[in-house]
Amino acid sequence: MAMSGVHLLFLVIFIPASVASRRNLRLSPADVVVPDAEAADTPTTYFEVDRPLRPPIGSSGPCSTLLMSHSFGFTYTKPPVTAAYSPPDCLVAAGGGASAISLAVLEWRATCRGVQFDRIFGVWLAGAELLRSCTAEPRPNGIVWSISKDVTRYASLLAAGNSTLAVYLGNLVNDQYTGVYHANITLHLYLRPTQPRQPAPATAPADMIVPVSRSLPLNDGLWFQIQNAADVESASITLPPNAYRAVLEVYVSFHGQDEFWYTNTPDGNGPFREVTVLVDGDLVGAVWPFPVIFTGGINPLLWRPITGIGSFNLPTYDIELTPFLGKMLDGKAHELGFAVTNAVDVWYVDGNLHLWLDPSTGGTATTASLVSYDAPPLAANTTSQFDGPNGQYYTTASRRISATGWVESSSHGRITTNATQTFTFENTNTFTGDGTTETVNQTTVIYTAVSATDLAVGAVLYSQQAHQNFPLYMDTEEKQQTSHNANLSYTVARGYHETVVAAGEWLSGPHHRSLRNTQSGAVDFETRDGKEVAASWGTRQTYIREATDGCYFRNVTSSGYGISSDESNEVCSSLPATATGASTAQLFKN
Ligand SMILES: *[C@@H]1O[C@H](CO)[C@@H](O)[C@H](O)[C@H]1NC(C)=O
Ligand SMILES: *[C@@H]1O[C@H](CO)[C@@H](O)[C@H](O)[C@H]1NC(C)=O
Ligand SMILES: *[C@@H]1O[C@H](CO)[C@@H](O)[C@H](O)[C@H]1NC(C)=O
Ligand SMILES: *[C@@H]1O[C@H](CO)[C@@H](O)[C@H](O)[C@H]1NC(C)=O
Ligand SMILES: *[C@@H]1O[C@H](CO)[C@@H](O)[C@H](O)[C@H]1NC(C)=O
Ligand SMILES: *[C@@H]1O[C@H](CO)[C@@H](O)[C@H](O)[C@H]1NC(C)=O
Ligand SMILES: *[C@@H]1O[C@H](CO)[C@@H](O)[C@H](O)[C@H]1NC(C)=O
Repeated sequence: MAMSGVHLLFLVIFIPASVASRRNLRLSPADVVVPDAEAADTPTTYFEVDRPLRPPIGSSGPCSTLLMSHSFGFTYTKPPVTAAYSPPDCLVAAGGGASAISLAVLEWRATCRGVQFDRIFGVWLAGAELLRSCTAEPRPNGIVWSISKDVTRYASLLAAGNSTLAVYLGNLVNDQYTGVYHANITLHLYLRPTQPRQPAPATAPADMIVPVSRSLPLNDGLWFQIQNAADVESASITLPPNAYRAVLEVYVSFHGQDEFWYTNTPDGNGPFREVTVLVDGDLVGAVWPFPVIFTGGINPLLWRPITGIGSFNLPTYDIELTPFLGKMLDGKAHELGFAVTNAVDVWYVDGNLHLWLDPSTGGTATTASLVSYDAPPLAANTTSQFDGPNGQYYTTASRRISATGWVESSSHGRITTNATQTFTFENTNTFTGDGTTETVNQTTVIYTAVSATDLAVGAVLYSQQAHQNFPLYMDTEEKQQTSHNANLSYTVARGYHETVVAAGEWLSGPHHRSLRNTQSGAVDFETRDGKEVAASWGTRQTYIREATDGCYFRNVTSSGYGISSDESNEVCSSLPATATGASTAQLFKN
C-alpha cells in the first residue's frame, strides 16, 4: 500500500509446503468481491474504538475552523496538498497565546466509494507531523469515517503565526481502483476562561516544536523513507540557546516488505524491529513499535466496520532527550537521525522535537552537561527448530538505554534529569500441518522512566513511569484445494496496554492513567480463481481507560458489517482489567 505506484498482483499466493516462509497477507480490494453482493444502499460507517475527547471543566468552545477540504484522486508522486494556516479568530481574540488553548482536536472526516487500496497519509503543520493515518477501504456504495485526535500538545504551532498545512495521501485511480478519497480537516479549539500568567514549566505543551522531517517542496510525504538496516535518515537541527527540556516524539509506519514485520522469517530479516534515534550518530533512544495492522492487512474484511487498533490514528512514541542537551546546546547544528534495526523496504519515520524554553527576559542561554550514559548493545537471538515443513522460529530481544544529565537555566536553576528505557521482545512463529497453519505469538514490553530533580534542594520537579505491553497473536490456516481455490481462516488478537503514573512539584497533583485496549477478530473465507467468494467475520473490542483526567469503557462486537452488541460509559468504576486472551477469537468462528 501507498509505498509503491505499482501494486504487485495481490493474489493469494500459496507457499510450497516445504518452505517456512512469509505468507502473503495482502489481498487486492478488487479481489474481495463477495460480501458486497448484498451491499448496503447507504454508506457504511467505519470506526476506530477510542475515547471521546472532553475539554477541561470551564472551557469555552469549540470554535471550529475548516482547515482543508480536498478530494484525493491521482495524487501519487504529486506534491502534498497544502493550505495556508493562520491562527483561528477565536484564539486571536482570546489573546492569541498557546496557553489559552485547553483542548485542541484535529478532526479528519472522509468519504469514498468504489474500489481502492488502504492508503497511508500524514498531516503536517509547519513541517511538524500532527497525524499519521491509514484510509479505510471503500465499498461500492460508499463508506464514511472520521478521526478525532487530541493535538493540544501542538498548541505552540497552532498559536504561532501563519504557516502551511500539508497533507500527503498517495492515491492511484484507474479503471480497476476507482475510489477517490473526499476529506475535510477541521480544527476544534476549546479555550480557558482565563489564561495562566505563566504556564506550568516543562509539563504544559512545549514552547517550541522543531520538525525532524523532510522539507517541502517534495513529491511525497515529509517522512523519511528507511529502506534497509543500514539506512540512516537525519535532519540538521540547531537548538535555541535557552532550551531546558527536550522530548522527541516519533511517528512511524511500516509498509511494503515490512508491513507485517512480526511474521518475517529469517529470509526477511526475522520478526524483530526497532527504530533507533541518533544524535550525531550516537544512540539516544529507541522505539519498539506497536504492530499496527492497516485496513487492507491480513484480510480487509477483518477491519470492517471496526478498524484495527491505531490504524486510523497511529500511536506516537516519546523519547526524553533532556539528558543529552549538553551535546546539543552549543549553538551549532546537530544531526538528529533515525534508523530501523533489521529493516526491509520500507519504513516511514519522522519526528517532532518538543522544546521548553527558559521564560526569563531575553531568553538567557542555558548550560547543560551529560553526566552518565549507559546503553549496552541490543541483545537479540533467534533459534529455529524444524522437522521438514513443521517447526518454529523463536526470537527474543532486549535493550536498555539510560542517561542522566543536568541543565541550568536562570529561571529554574540546575535540574538533573534521568531517563531510562527498557525493552523486551519475544516472538514465536510456528508452522504446523505441513505448512498450512502459521501462528505468530509476540509480546513487546516497554518500561520508560523520567525524573527531573533539583538536587540542591532535593525536590522532584517531575517524574513519570510508564509501562506498556503490546501482545499480538495471529493464526492463519490455509487449506488448499487447487493452486487458486482454498479455504482460509485467520484469527488476530492483540492489545495496547499501558499504565502511566506521574508526580512532582511541576504538576498540579499526581496523575495516573491506565488503558487496556484489546481486540480480537476472525475471518473464514473461500477463494476461487484467486478471488474471495464467501466469507464470514467478526471482531470484539474492549477499551478500558481509567485515569485522573477521565474514564471510558467500551465493549463492542461486530458480525460481518453489522454491530451485534455495543456498550459504553464514562464512569470511573474500578473495573477489573481483565486480560482477554486469544481464545476470544474462537467465539466468532462460523
Ligand atoms: C466537507 O465539507 C463540505 C462543506 O462543508 C461538505 O459539503 C462536505 O460534505 C464535507 N465532506 C465530508 C467528507 O465531510
Ligand atoms: C496571515 O494570513 C492572513 C490570512 O491569509 C493574512 O490576512 C495576514 O496578513 C497574514 N499575516 C502575516 C503576518 O503574514
Ligand atoms: C540463543 O539461544 C540459544 C537457545 O536458547 C542459546 O543456546 C544460544 O547461546 C543463544 N545465543 C545467543 C547469542 O545468545
Ligand atoms: C536513574 O534511573 C535509574 C533507573 O531507574 C537508576 O538506577 C539510577 O540510580 C538513576 N540515576 C540517578 C542519578 O538518579
Ligand atoms: C503466547 O506466548 C506467551 C509467552 O510469551 C504465553 O504466555 C501465551 O500463553 C502464548 N499465547 C498463546 C495463545 O499461545
Ligand atoms: C471449503 O468450504 C466449503 C464450504 O464452505 C466446502 O464445501 C469445501 O469442501 C471446503 N474446501 C476445502 C478444501 O476444505
Ligand atoms: C462484552 O460484551 C460481550 C457480549 O455482550 C460479553 O459477553 C462480554 O462479557 C463483555 N465484556 C466485558 C468486559 O464487559
